[in-house]
Amino acid sequence: MSTALQLSDVTVTYSDGDSQVTALDDVSITVAPGEFVAVVGPSGSGKSTLLAVAGALTTPATGKVTVAGVEVTGLDDTALAKVRREHIGFVFQSSGSLPSALSAEQQLELAARVAGGWGRHTGAELLEKVGMTHRAKNRPGSLSGGERQRVGIARALVGDPQILLVDEPTAALDRHRSQEIVALLAKECHDFNVAGVMVTHDHEVLGHCDRVFEMVDGRLSPVA
Ligand SMILES: Nc1ncnc2c1ncn2[C@@H]1O[C@H](COP(=O)(O)OP(=O)(O)O)[C@@H](O)[C@H]1O
Ligand SMILES: [Mg+2]
Repeated sequence: MSTALQLSDVTVTYSDGDSQVTALDDVSITVAPGEFVAVVGPSGSGKSTLLAVAGALTTPATGKVTVAGVEVTGLDDTALAKVRREHIGFVFQSSGSLPSALSAEQQLELAARVAGGWGRHTGAELLEKVGMTHRAKNRPGSLSGGERQRVGIARALVGDPQILLVDEPTAALDRHRSQEIVALLAKECHDFNVAGVMVTHDHEVLGHCDRVFEMVDGRLSPVA
């Protein structure tokens, strides 16, 4: 089976004044097309850094990263931006709080223009999938945190990304909506051969995931 996402022996170190923080410590993971995996772990353990590396936002000092068949280690910023634009759907931990003058529907239209087209779902279909049809004309300022998060998820699915990276998608959602949203993410991965990685604190949604990993102090291991 081909791999959509592969990190091999990746280490990321940040210098924090005089001290060094090892955010990722010799991390290896392979995610196949159509697979939806979860990463759990305490705050500060390196989960967001893992997504940043997988999403070609950060290139690690050591190790090898392959994204959608492209080895990204060593690419310049322009080439990395192209990989992100063409292959990656990103739901940032903070995407629910980004201010915008654009309505939900306009945000998706902008994303489609950047991606060069809608892909398999139109904006209206995506808003329907995340239960936001009735809020299509609303700007983020008049949406709840959970509603903004759902728009962020719809936006990440525009343009048929091969890789979906999602940081804490249920943080602002109630239990029922959390199950719905994570089931949707899993179904997108399974139905359309997308490789998905979700960081979460929410153990109740892990049943939707094909594999679960735990991050502790920058080290990633499978959860039995
Ligand atoms: N840009 C940065 N500069 C310095 N340290 C950072 C930076 N980003 C993350 N870190 C540190 O790296 C570690 C992992 O952070 P992060 O990946 O955000 O963890 P998590 O998402 O699991 O909370 C933490 O100790 C954090 O303080
Ligand atoms: Mg984080």
